[in-house]
Amino acid sequence: MNNRQTFFVTSPIFYPNAQPHLGHAYTTLLCDVLARHHRLVGDEAYFLTGTDEHTEKVVQAAKAQGQKPEEYLEEIVARFKNLYQKLDISYDQFIRTSDQKIHLPGAIEMWNRLVTAGDLYKSSYIGLYCVGHEAFMTEKELVDGLCPDHGMAPEKVTEVNWFFRLSKYASQIEKFIADGTLPIIPESRKKEILSFIRSGVQDVSFSRPKEKMTWGIPVPNDPGQTMYIWVDALTNYITALGFGRGEELMRFWPGMHVIGKDILRFHTVFWPAMLLSANLPLPKMVFVHGTIISNGKKMSKTLGNIINPYELIKKYGTDATRYLLLRHVHSTEDTDVTWEKLDEWYTANLTNGLGNFISRVMKMSEDNLDIREIQNFRNDTLEADAKDKQAKIHELLEQFRFNDALDEIWKFIAIGDELIQKKKPFQLIKENPEKGKEEILNFVWRAFRIANFIEPFMPDTSRKIRAAFQENKKPENLFPRLDT
Ligand code: MSP
Repeated sequence: MNNRQTFFVTSPIFYPNAQPHLGHAYTTLLCDVLARHHRLVGDEAYFLTGTDEHTEKVVQAAKAQGQKPEEYLEEIVARFKNLYQKLDISYDQFIRTSDQKIHLPGAIEMWNRLVTAGDLYKSSYIGLYCVGHEAFMTEKELVDGLCPDHGMAPEKVTEVNWFFRLSKYASQIEKFIADGTLPIIPESRKKEILSFIRSGVQDVSFSRPKEKMTWGIPVPNDPGQTMYIWVDALTNYITALGFGRGEELMRFWPGMHVIGKDILRFHTVFWPAMLLSANLPLPKMVFVHGTIISNGKKMSKTLGNIINPYELIKKYGTDATRYLLLRHVHSTEDTDVTWEKLDEWYTANLTNGLGNFISRVMKMSEDNLDIREIQNFRNDTLEADAKDKQAKIHELLEQFRFNDALDEIWKFIAIGDELIQKKKPFQLIKENPEKGKEEILNFVWRAFRIANFIEPFMPDTSRKIRAAFQENKKPENLFPRLDT
């Protein structure tokens, strides 16, 4: 019998109207660490990511390149997948909302369930639509008539739409969020959304006329209307599991969502309301991560301060990039990332930190020990110590405290460095070979534990250290100096 716990984690599905940037890489990386962690503790984990394709921005981007949306998408989706491969992202499924086989049946099923519940009605609408947000905005939210995030005037819209009775679910959702039935982490985001709900929730437009939204899923039984992109997009979290087409993976639902603060409302109000209306379980949890800013500003093409994830990988390598983002981007606050800081962190913590420690230890081991001595080594005190440390790291990860978990590991490395200075095993081995060997074995043991601790964060480095240990051979230079 299979009694493993299931763990389902999702990243947002990204708009593929431009190249993937560091923010996309970051979100997906957090999901990857969680998925790897849960696999390592024996859970049956499933990690979903993908692209949110039915945006007018895709139509425009394709047109600008003289391509059909389908052709344009093939290329850009390949870029996303390539980035994930370069970052060692272990996703189980990459969903595309334009996929007629995987996504469409469930999106239609969701719509029909909302109809059955009596939660959709047709009404005319006057509003301001921001294509950047793919959402209607209020006058209050504009600055000098422009959307403050996108610097564009929203489109004035007068049209007939399908509306969803979001207001019907507001008090229920408020209660579920307040009492922790739907946990939102961190607390500050929970407060933010509660105050949003308490300020009054209105019904929302869930479709747009086909001539305005040319690229999207037609509303069942009303082909003149296209489903609003967020209805289509949010449903990906279950269509990927087979909702509406056989449900083969639905045992993974409910899962947890990892998102940025910009899409909080959609995930903690719209989506739970849709699930309640469709008679489906609420998400297990929503984790809202921090945002990467660059030189004090939000990254944007116009400001020219976008940090390209490929450049990071090229300069530092895959695992170093993972490390830099996971340890130094605050998991729930804004973090300013600049090349100067990245260089500093890389050198201090990887070249001079982890890399140097492993290389010193494995050199001593290679010169003085044989493989059997390593294999037969046991030290129960050290082992108990490592167990405690591992438990602490797991606990921090379960609380999404990625930075703190890595701090713990780096403390363990720092202690190792201090002990080398203090015990000087490289001298001791000459004066007292037996004692010297014992000390070196302790350090080798420490290196091996580090390989275990870093596995969900830096899987390839973990593998390399383990291999070095098994062959008793100093590994290749793990984190070469930047100036060489
Ligand atoms: N397509 C919607 C999401 C639909 S989910 C059903 C969308 N896509 S997006 O391409 O704009 O990506 C938004 C997500 O990317 C954010 O929620 C966040 O997770 C991530 N990031 C985008 N910029 C970011 C930073 N500068 N820093 C960290 N993450 C950020 O919204």
